[in-house]
Amino acid sequence: MTIIQEPNRVIIFDTTLRDGEQSPGAAMNLEEKLRIAEALDQFGVDVIEAGFPISSNGDFEAVTEISKLVKNATVCGLARAGMKDIDRAGEALKHAKRGRIHTFLSTSPVHMKHKLNMTPEQVLGAVVASVTRARDLVEDVEWSGEDATRTEFDFLCRCIEAAIKAGASTINLPDTVGYATPQEYAEMFRKVIARVPGADTVRFSTHCHNDLGLAVANSLAGVIGGARQIECSINGIGERAGNAALEEIVMAMKVRHDAMPFDTNIDTSQIARISKLVSSTIAFPVQYNKAIVGKNAFAHESGIHQDGMLKNAETYEIMRPEDVGVAKSSLVLGKLSGRHAFREKLSAMGYELGANALQDAFERFKALADKKRHVFDEDIVALVDDEMARGQDRLRFENMRVVAGTFGPQSAEMELSIDGEIRVGLARGDGPVDAIFNAIRGLYPHEASLQLYQVHAVTEGTDAQAEVSVRLEENGKSVTGRGADTDTLVASAKAYLNALNKLLVKRQKTAPEAMSATH
Ligand code: KIV
Ligand code: ZN
Repeated sequence: MTIIQEPNRVIIFDTTLRDGEQSPGAAMNLEEKLRIAEALDQFGVDVIEAGFPISSNGDFEAVTEISKLVKNATVCGLARAGMKDIDRAGEALKHAKRGRIHTFLSTSPVHMKHKLNMTPEQVLGAVVASVTRARDLVEDVEWSGEDATRTEFDFLCRCIEAAIKAGASTINLPDTVGYATPQEYAEMFRKVIARVPGADTVRFSTHCHNDLGLAVANSLAGVIGGARQIECSINGIGERAGNAALEEIVMAMKVRHDAMPFDTNIDTSQIARISKLVSSTIAFPVQYNKAIVGKNAFAHESGIHQDGMLKNAETYEIMRPEDVGVAKSSLVLGKLSGRHAFREKLSAMGYELGANALQDAFERFKALADKKRHVFDEDIVALVDDEMARGQDRLRFENMRVVAGTFGPQSAEMELSIDGEIRVGLARGDGPVDAIFNAIRGLYPHEASLQLYQVHAVTEGTDAQAEVSVRLEENGKSVTGRGADTDTLVASAKAYLNALNKLLVKRQKTAPEAMSATH
């Protein structure tokens, strides 16, 4: 098959939901994955790697449901070289408008010997068998040589040639351990493309990890060397130090189009929103000074810089905040705003809620406007995110009273609805948050342990809403819950309950036999 390529078009392959989700603590539930997949589709990514279907029933279901949901992008499922992996990926993708199986196998000496315990000839045989099987199931097959950058060059070329002959149309050469330099990575693509028969009939892809902070630079170098697909993730989340950050890659090619004349299909004005969606979903705060999406990325603090900015923004700004969807925080609505204005505001912010969800969100907005004088865009985002996080929760917050401070022991009286039944309990703790969590544990006993408790003020001022994230771990599986409220302690209780609800869903879905399939 010959691929006719627009020579400068770079395919953006998003792996937030697969490699990104492999970050410790970044597990997402189905609802969250669907929201992110929908946002990625609207954002303009070309391929969404939705999961690793054989690794768990949860991943299988996620790939299946995302395949049904996504309208524009190709949906991709990951598979090792084994037939069971590939068949499971094919099964999960059967509803996709455009489905891709991404099958991979290690090719470096250290991986073949110590991880796979296979000889190079056995690996070569498995490349042919796996790609052939995948092509029996779908048209679009990607093959990756895991640890390509530490693979012996002649052997890498033999594997690529075999994968192309067996029917792969994308060849991915990952820098799995984040070891390559930009020069080496560009050179690898140049040499492979010049040498391997059939290289002109396929698309080459980068996949870079950030162990030395070079993932973005290496990905761009790979494109300069001839690759035309970049595998990357929102906010750069992924195994260990993460993957190449999608937003940095896309903006680098846009702002420095003179030096890197490559185009993508991404609507960059959605960058800020999708970055926030991912970071709040998994409670991974974005570093303040992170390029493109950090809180300070467009802040000018020093007097000299501020003076220059006032005279002409180009003095210190190489891109406009609005290019990446960063708008000045605006005062939105107040106590007297009606449902119509509220709906208009939501829609302008990109939220389309159904009638019931809109009504619930509106009631919560009214309650918030009663407590808080100014309601900002960020408040609306926190409120709607909080509403969506509740979903079909079995455990629901009703009321609580907390004793905090230094006069005596701290305690919490908690009223919860558990499967529709109201239950009340009282507990003491080492501080008010501990007392709240103990009260919840008393009403709904569980073994999960607290891994993270994080509070973030949504806006400025003492009446700001608090957004709390709580991570719980049970049997090696972790989940993150969120809650928002003007009362930090109420937000804490809601976040803990949200995490517990997610654990309940996870317990139902995880198949023990499938878990051993992850590597
Ligand atoms: O880093 C890596 O090599 C991977 C492969 C599965 C593509 O994630
Ligand atoms: Zn990876």
